[in-house]
Amino acid sequence: MKAKELKKKYLKFFKEKEHAIISSASLIPENDPSVLFTTAGMHPLVPFLMGEKHPQGKRIANVQKCIRTGDIDDVGDASHLTFFEMLGNWSLGDYFKEEAIKWSYEFITDKKWLGLDVENLHVTVFAGDKDAPKDSEAEKVWLELGIPKERIHFLPKEDNWWGPAGDTGPCGPDTEMFIDTGKDPCSKKCGPGCYCGKYFEIWNDVFMQYNKTADGKYEKLKQHNVDTGMGVERTVAMVQGKSTIYEIETFAPIVDKIKKLAKIDEPGDEQTKHLRIISDHLRSAAFILSEGRVVPSNLDQGYILRRLIRRSIRSGRQIGIEENFCKDIAKVVSKIFRGDYPEFDENKDFILNEIEKEEDKFSKALTKGLKQFEKFGKDGKISGKDAFMLFSTHGFPVEMTEELAKEEGFKFDKKEFNKEFEKHQKLSRKGAEKKFKGGLSDASYENSKLHTATHLLHQALRKVLGDHVKQMGSNITPERLRFDFSHDAKLSDEEKQKVEDIVNENIKAGLEVKREEMSVKEARKAGAHGLFADKYGEKVSVYTIKGFSKEICMGPHVKNTSELGHFKIKKEKAVAAGIRRIKAVLEEDKKE
Ligand code: ALA
Repeated sequence: MKAKELKKKYLKFFKEKEHAIISSASLIPENDPSVLFTTAGMHPLVPFLMGEKHPQGKRIANVQKCIRTGDIDDVGDASHLTFFEMLGNWSLGDYFKEEAIKWSYEFITDKKWLGLDVENLHVTVFAGDKDAPKDSEAEKVWLELGIPKERIHFLPKEDNWWGPAGDTGPCGPDTEMFIDTGKDPCSKKCGPGCYCGKYFEIWNDVFMQYNKTADGKYEKLKQHNVDTGMGVERTVAMVQGKSTIYEIETFAPIVDKIKKLAKIDEPGDEQTKHLRIISDHLRSAAFILSEGRVVPSNLDQGYILRRLIRRSIRSGRQIGIEENFCKDIAKVVSKIFRGDYPEFDENKDFILNEIEKEEDKFSKALTKGLKQFEKFGKDGKISGKDAFMLFSTHGFPVEMTEELAKEEGFKFDKKEFNKEFEKHQKLSRKGAEKKFKGGLSDASYENSKLHTATHLLHQALRKVLGDHVKQMGSNITPERLRFDFSHDAKLSDEEKQKVEDIVNENIKAGLEVKREEMSVKEARKAGAHGLFADKYGEKVSVYTIKGFSKEICMGPHVKNTSELGHFKIKKEKAVAAGIRRIKAVLEEDKKE
């Protein structure tokens, strides 16, 4: 069974269980300030886990593109990736533990579906702590299904708890499913949760029955939800009897191409690690670029993209690739995934150009930078100042300097670098940290206001600049909105003023904001704007600001524009060729 077939089977299985199939959300979260990338299918669904009604109903399934940079240091082992495809089924206040676990079991073991040998199936269950009791309900279902006690393992929160997506929000105990590959255990302690490659985690059923509040408490949620995640690459590896994900058909051509470029036949351990790092990182980079919205930079998503590409280039050098190669790898990635993800064709030139530009920039700097690094390291230590110089002059992401120092056995204190960095204020760390704090729910009203303001802004821009204006991206924190749109010239002061005036007039007018559900076709017919992958003929929600704007959108929004206050544009600039960015805020209403 290949990855394509697994995805098809999974969706078919859950369709038979009356789930609506929805498209993958973007890798770059819209309106969620708590993360840079979509790390799980849960992110775009948080409002619905908290009780908002989903236009598709209470049972949902999908294949979601995910980026997890938190796993970057584990890449190189048998199973960790920075990008992966995740299969998920959701109950939004509908079924709970019994159905979720029984369906997981059926899909994994039944010959009609995956047909994996049940004897190799191990499961883990939440052990219980001061916040929540041991999950005896989940245990009971596994026992009923015939999984013997020895293959049910109880683990603490670090292993068997999922969420919230930010600091606060829906979360709960989970039960995870592992396949025993038959390899020898690495030690006496080896068990599910150990990364040595004996146990492969393939699926996680999360029972979102709690809400973590701002003061760190876990309240019971009124609505009981299920959020499951099955890793496509890992599951395919297990079904195909492989011992690493790099051997499956969506990875092998990437690895083979790199081996060819490096002229390696039988890689040793160290070479294998670099082959894996390059294949994983450039696959992630290609997926990020395929959405056409992020370019390598020193900020936010752009910085992660830069790190992935630059680390690949360095790994390339380590295995003897001196020429530019990233573009060739991106081409292989595109070829593998273009059938499932049309964005690879839509943004073909963008992907290849951006990756090449970044490689050109860094290849030259790398050789010099490595020489400089050696010099700095003569006294066995890389200081914060040294690391900052390597960053600012040679473009070394600090994580790369950290890694190099570790390899060479040089002392390095990242905190020193951070101090140096803050001094130079090249990148507003504070801003970046703030991004990761402050979950969704506590800021949700400010968020809704800015979200509605974004729709007003979008329409005002179309009125002032023309109908070519299209949304290219949106990001909202409780403090401000950020809106990227297609337009190829700087806005004049007059244009900005006009846009502000139109938005403020429509706020003053106190227009009603209404939500309706309809098919994508109906929405288009009604003249709604909005990016939408119409892969499964889904129902969508359409928000109308009376007499002014209509957009396909997940919300949330305020009920009336009069709630917004005074709209003010703070910044307008280019982010890429043909893409402009506006940052704007809502101020207290100016009473005249
Ligand atoms: N959100 C859960 C996970 O990613 C399913 O593991």
